[in-house]
Amino acid sequence: MEIIIQPTPEEATKIAARIIARLLSRKPNAVLGLATGGTPQLLYQELVTMNLNWSQVKTFNIDEYAGLPENHPQSFHSFMRENLFRHIKIPARNVHIPDGNAWDVEKFCETYEKQIRAAHGIDLQVLGIGGNGHIGFNEPMSSLASRTRIKTLTRQTIRDNARFFGSRSNVPRHVITMGIGTIMEARQIILLAFGAKKSEAVASAIEGPIAARHPASALQQHPHVTICLDDAAASKLEFAGYYRETFRNKPAWQR
Ligand code: GLP
Repeated sequence: MEIIIQPTPEEATKIAARIIARLLSRKPNAVLGLATGGTPQLLYQELVTMNLNWSQVKTFNIDEYAGLPENHPQSFHSFMRENLFRHIKIPARNVHIPDGNAWDVEKFCETYEKQIRAAHGIDLQVLGIGGNGHIGFNEPMSSLASRTRIKTLTRQTIRDNARFFGSRSNVPRHVITMGIGTIMEARQIILLAFGAKKSEAVASAIEGPIAARHPASALQQHPHVTICLDDAAASKLEFAGYYRETFRNKPAWQR
């Protein structure tokens, strides 16, 4: 895994945005996996300022709350519309966000997986990480081979996301999420994490054992992962000095 540590979230985000911009210029019909939450907001703002060509890009969001109306201000449909889609020219037919109100959830999840395969897979998956190490909404003890499915949120995730809903009781208990097996099939993954609150989850993901207890640790078995951190999120990494040295000494052609 390539670990990039920058002093601030803005500097780390700029590097991630450049990787995505390079992909879109190389492959105008690229398929992007997208995440939500406070972390990728900066990334989407940066991508919008880059005026990229989204006309042939396809997107698949990693998750959505179950049972929340799509136009609810805290749905991930609303998040993506407000933070990215209303600022770029991407055909609506190319945007895919899990349907949290599907009548037949299992059938929907199968269809979502089929749509990803029909798009020839995800070229680059953007990830954040939850305080308990979840990716998407794959909570601890999720199978590392899981597929798109319904999941129940942990108390910690409900607590962490209550900030968007005014109270814990308003946070949906169930979600639809791509599985870890689904995520791992992306050809490239960029994970972003900022702030001291993520430092434990980041250290477990990068330097801990591969374990379902730490879902993001599955990424250690992926061939092309870039993890973009600020100093605070990297503060518990034992080998932070090595990662910084490696990035500083990257051959020019690799930058
Ligand atoms: C939610 C999302 C995840 C996201 C996590 C962290 O659980 N389902 O995709 O990574 O929150 O969000 P934030 O970036 O706001 O800390």
